[in-house]
Amino acid sequence: MDNLTPKKIVEELDKYIIGQGNAKKAVAIALRNRWRRQQLSEELKDEVLPKNILMIGPTGVGKTEIARRLAKLAQAPFIKVEASKFTEVGYVGRDVESMIRDLTGLALNMVKTEQMEKVLEKAGVLAEEKVLNLLLPPPKLRNKLPAVDGAETVEDENQHYKDTREKLRSQLREGKLDERYIDLEVREKVMPFGVVSNIGSDDLEINLKEMLGNILPDKPKRKKARIPEAIKIIEQEEASKLIDMDKVVTEAIERTEQSGIIFIDEIDKVASKGSSQGPDVSREGVQRDLLPIVEGSTVSTKHGPVKTDHILFVAAGAFSVAKPSDLIPELQGRFPIRAELEALGKDEFLRILREPKNALIKQYIAMMETEGVQLKFKDESVEEIASTAALVNEKTENIGARRLHTVLEKLLEDISFDAPDLQDGDLLIDAEYVNNKLSDIIKDEDLSRYIL
Ligand SMILES: Nc1ncnc2c1ncn2[C@@H]1O[C@H](COP(=O)(O)OP(=O)(O)OP(=O)(O)O)[C@@H](O)[C@H]1O
Ligand SMILES: [Mg+2]
Repeated sequence: MDNLTPKKIVEELDKYIIGQGNAKKAVAIALRNRWRRQQLSEELKDEVLPKNILMIGPTGVGKTEIARRLAKLAQAPFIKVEASKFTEVGYVGRDVESMIRDLTGLALNMVKTEQMEKVLEKAGVLAEEKVLNLLLPPPKLRNKLPAVDGAETVEDENQHYKDTREKLRSQLREGKLDERYIDLEVREKVMPFGVVSNIGSDDLEINLKEMLGNILPDKPKRKKARIPEAIKIIEQEEASKLIDMDKVVTEAIERTEQSGIIFIDEIDKVASKGSSQGPDVSREGVQRDLLPIVEGSTVSTKHGPVKTDHILFVAAGAFSVAKPSDLIPELQGRFPIRAELEALGKDEFLRILREPKNALIKQYIAMMETEGVQLKFKDESVEEIASTAALVNEKTENIGARRLHTVLEKLLEDISFDAPDLQDGDLLIDAEYVNNKLSDIIKDEDLSRYIL
């Protein structure tokens, strides 16, 4: 995180997202501010509140993509929720506070994984001993065996045991026993079936599981596993025993409160033009529920109370029908930074097709390669694809970069279908090929509405 400067963050985002400099800059600064705040003295730290961001831009121009990539970068607890989720079921839908619980759960896993990694070496040593015990039970545990020569003393037997054990150990380390199976006991919480399966609300199910989890006993279960797998299982078990769960929980809550980031996508879907009936009531309800959380309140989670004051919220929406001003004023005010994303045109499409690490053209080439087909795109053909996408966006609906998917899919449909039968061929896609495949569809506006 120390060297994740705003510039560096934008650089990382640039690898996947073309253009949208403003939005990238805004999120980069916000992310860096989390780090800056951490460097402050305790009293000042409390005063610095995050500046929440509202990303506004038409559909398919990279809002969600920026969030997704940012999530990978930020080594902070980060979740993305859809505002519309909270209206789906019934009147208000999923409880808005659940996003804080999810974030805390995520932070908990993060901290736990980190702590486990620290003790993994120790756990590995323990696991090796346990597996050796299973392979060759120590003399004390062993049932009386008939003495080999009838005349073995206890010392002899112990020495003999030690030698064999060391031999086994080296075989184990050399991987010579990898094909062998052993029986081991694993502990897992068993859910009585039928209790929860029909309720259908995942919230409820999770809550029940949590509640029952403390009551239900750990039931040991016998399991057969190959040795490498068994070592992994035991290692995990030992590692969980070695870490201090109380500390993990404290640290997880601290991290959620201090550096958590929540991305609220589709926020425009809960905006409404003040009417007091129908779905609008529920939408406004969601906004009202969001208020205290964004403003800073305490949410109780199963791990303990979590304060939301310093959690950063990034909201995004296309705002094609509703406008940011249709959000209730209180909520608008809580997203002081506005980042606008621009509509994409031919030039951007051209770059999106080729430049990102996961560029579409690269993807198609790699996919066809698995069939032994070498797909090659002439520059002119990529130009043609980009301008086709731009044209269709203009003539029908502007769905941004998603149009590239539909155009490419149509363009390569036949190749994709026939690929397994094309014997190790090179396939060159030139402008003519693109025109052949697409020109009829483009000319007919109705047709392109349906197909592209
Ligand atoms: N600027 C861009 N650079 C590279 N790829 C992009 C860009 N914009 C969009 N894409 C690609 O287009 C697709 C849709 O983008 P994304 O999901 O970010 O849209 P969005 O802005 O969230 O739209 P919506 O408002 O409909 O949710 C993704 O596959 C994404 O990779
Ligand atoms: Mg989106």
